[in-house]
Amino acid sequence: MPPLPTSSISGSFQWPGPAYLDKPACVKIGLARVITDYATYAYLCDVYVIESHRGRGLGSWLVRCALEHPAINSLKRIALITHDAKEFYARLGFQPPADPEQYMERIP
Ligand SMILES: CC(C)(COP(=O)(O)OP(=O)(O)OC[C@H]1O[C@@H](n2cnc3c(N)ncnc32)[C@H](O)[C@@H]1OP(=O)(O)O)[C@@H](O)C(=O)NCCC(=O)NCCS
Repeated sequence: MPPLPTSSISGSFQWPGPAYLDKPACVKIGLARVITDYATYAYLCDVYVIESHRGRGLGSWLVRCALEHPAINSLKRIALITHDAKEFYARLGFQPPADPEQYMERIP
């Protein structure tokens, strides 16, 4: 599992807990987190399933749990950035911005 700074974990919520366990092996096999103001906007990031457990629906399940979570399921916008998993997220209802011209970012 890629290491994340403690501040990035404490500034977001995870579900159903810090990770979920592969019983009886009890190892962490996946992670996802959401950064949100709980009112208008959420950003989904660090969706990760360890290689040995991919292709079993766990990544989709993690994302669905996030989208259905009461903390964010009524928000106007849930965003993410992905380099090569567009098809994975498209199946979960994500699409490119309707008007990319409206989107801006600042990368120092
Ligand atoms: C992306 C990731 C979380 C998917 O986890 P997973 O448990 O394998 O996902 P699922 O089993 O739910 O896959 C659902 C479908 O999406 C497809 N899929 C998975 N990853 C994909 C990707 N990167 N691009 C396109 N399709 C992908 C699967 O092939 C599967 O298709 P199928 O139902 O036709 O077999 C996992 O591959 C991963 O951790 N990758 C490395 C980190 C990463 O790229 N995270 C996302 C970055 S934003």
